[in-house]
Amino acid sequence: MSNILIMGAGGFGTALAVMSRKFGHKITMWSPFPEEVEMLCRDREHKKLLAGIPIPADVEITTSLEALGGAELVILAVPSAAVRSTAATLAKSVPERIPVACVSKGLEAGTYKILSDVMEEELPRNPIVMISGPSHAEEVARGYPTTVVAASRSRAAAETVQDLLMNETFRIYVSDDVVGVEYGGALKNIIALAAGILDGLGSGDNTKAALMTRGIAEIARLGVAMGAKAETFAGLSGIGDLIVTCASMHSRNRRCGILIGEGVEPAEAVARIGMTVEGYPCTKVAYELARQQKIYMPIVEQAYHVLYEGKDIAAATKDLMERPKRHESETIWLLTR
Ligand SMILES: NC(=O)c1ccc[n+]([C@@H]2O[C@H](COP(=O)([O-])OP(=O)(O)OC[C@H]3O[C@@H](n4cnc5c(N)ncnc54)[C@H](O)[C@@H]3O)[C@@H](O)[C@H]2O)c1
Repeated sequence: MSNILIMGAGGFGTALAVMSRKFGHKITMWSPFPEEVEMLCRDREHKKLLAGIPIPADVEITTSLEALGGAELVILAVPSAAVRSTAATLAKSVPERIPVACVSKGLEAGTYKILSDVMEEELPRNPIVMISGPSHAEEVARGYPTTVVAASRSRAAAETVQDLLMNETFRIYVSDDVVGVEYGGALKNIIALAAGILDGLGSGDNTKAALMTRGIAEIARLGVAMGAKAETFAGLSGIGDLIVTCASMHSRNRRCGILIGEGVEPAEAVARIGMTVEGYPCTKVAYELARQQKIYMPIVEQAYHVLYEGKDIAAATKDLMERPKRHESETIWLLTR
């Protein structure tokens, strides 16, 4: 039994808490919001996001970081936009060398940094591990068999996460390709939004398969240019996560896209989902980064025009279909425009 501190008491933080408690760990859940802590302590259930799944009485839920002293592992489960500030809060009291894992998926707005780089800046004395893969909170909490990757520049830290969190319902593979794991996890949310748009429009299966397949191709193109290994995009954090988010009603990105496909304005659709729709900010960051790096990302480009500039979806689809002819497998001389 180990002491684990989970920072972020939303859908995934709660799911990880319930699962890890079931497999014998002592769990503390932290949230910066007193009203959220009060609600969870009162209901012992996340009624909005994980209804019907009890949070065991001995899972401590708090706004204080006092429990940190005994923690052997800290896990950040906050929206990607809150990773830097949460890591900075943690840095004030976390003992050095305690591994800090993170399940958030996104790129930092403005700097275009992957979240492990953000965390390393704020927590330079702690090894960082990124956990990613097809892992909806609703299913992790219910014990459905789930597989993820724990990626780190420190093999020992990745294996600590594997040792502590892996159980009969949650299988963890380790990887040293942090960059690949992060680009796959962050950018698949854009494709999931677009897949939802297609579903909202009532498009065909061919179109969705095309979006997913060409989507992972351009995610890999950017990822490889940023230092990732190409094969990572064929793994759990790449195609695995893309499949689950584009197909599942648990995906908030896909549900947001469905609303947009049905005619709701993008910003209004994001507000209606009312939870972290990571694909929306990520579309803007990826669009800007791709332009800066001169990487060809036609789907991200059209998603940006639709989501941020009000471009008609039919016109975006037509522009994608009528582009100049290309090879399916682009070689290096085709990577840039
Ligand atoms: N929900 C899932 O199935 C799932 C699965 C894998 C990864 N993720 C990723 O995990 C991250 C968290 O997702 P979630 O579904 O738990 O989100 P959520 O919106 O349900 O919960 C996030 C929690 O983070 C905390 N938080 C919110 N804003 C904060 C702030 N400004 N500062 C500090 N803490 C703050 C709160 O406790 C909040 O409940 C996201 O990046 C998401 O992409 C989610």
